[in-house]
Amino acid sequence: MDLGLKGKGALVTGASSGLGAACALALAAEGAEVVINSRNREKLASCARKILDATGHKVKVVVGDLVNPHDVERIYAESVQALSQSRVDILVSNTGGPVAGYFLDLPADKWEESYHLILKSAVDLTRAVLPAMIEQKWGRLIYITSVAVLQPLDDLLLSNTFRAGLTGFCKTVSNTYARHGITANTVCPGYTATERLKELSASRAKQQGISPEEVLANFAKLTPAGRVGEPEELAALVAFLAGERAAYLTGTAFPVDGGAHKGLF
Ligand SMILES: NC(=O)c1ccc[n+]([C@@H]2O[C@H](COP(=O)([O-])OP(=O)(O)OC[C@H]3O[C@@H](n4cnc5c(N)ncnc54)[C@H](OP(=O)(O)O)[C@@H]3O)[C@@H](O)[C@H]2O)c1
Repeated sequence: MDLGLKGKGALVTGASSGLGAACALALAAEGAEVVINSRNREKLASCARKILDATGHKVKVVVGDLVNPHDVERIYAESVQALSQSRVDILVSNTGGPVAGYFLDLPADKWEESYHLILKSAVDLTRAVLPAMIEQKWGRLIYITSVAVLQPLDDLLLSNTFRAGLTGFCKTVSNTYARHGITANTVCPGYTATERLKELSASRAKQQGISPEEVLANFAKLTPAGRVGEPEELAALVAFLAGERAAYLTGTAFPVDGGAHKGLF
């Protein structure tokens, strides 16, 4: 199936590893011109090499911290410079996960940091990419959130709070700009095998007095599919949402969780 991504310019943030890296690879494999961002130049270079080996496509890298609004501005400006059509057609807004913890255990300054990381960076990037999307009457806004949006997890308070805000933002933007050929959706990962899941397993292992391996096994047990997901499984949906065939899919939160979220919607 040709997704119609050849020649489209994509910016994927938080993309040196895990879900972001898998999304960047999937988009490059479909022929999109891709810029990847994260804080660490070496990790980005290694990810770019892997994508080149797997797809034959060279991705551009832009180093920057999504917590810092000035970096976010620069990430957009450098991405536009790096893309041959000087515009971002597809924004995949992904970040690192906020620290886990129950309310009174979370240091107060983590609230502001997580607001910048999860919500503000996505809002600022959307503001930056939208005018060119409106002008060309085509655009794709895809925000990676979490199943915590559909079913909050008690020790992921920062995630529950700011990703819910991002979901409301995405829905509103989708309503306003759908008539301009722009779709906006969130993709909600369940337990997926990345560095973040290892961090979460370590933190839960401490709380529960069991080993991180046992926590991981419990994640798989909680999932009807009987296993945790692979980043490529989420990336396949992101590539589809980015493509021409997804033109009528907008304003929706798509779980990719092996059935872990137990609600009807
Ligand atoms: N994996 C799961 O099971 C799961 C489930 C639900 C939700 N999620 C959420 O999905 C998102 C991606 O998760 P993941 O599992 O792929 O995490 P991951 O493996 O830890 O990858 C996070 C990526 O974001 C980058 N990053 C972190 N902080 C950044 C910052 N301040 N500025 C720019 N880049 C930054 C990291 O690279 P650098 O270190 O190079 O900056 C890395 O490339 C996270 O928000 C996570 O909470 C994950």
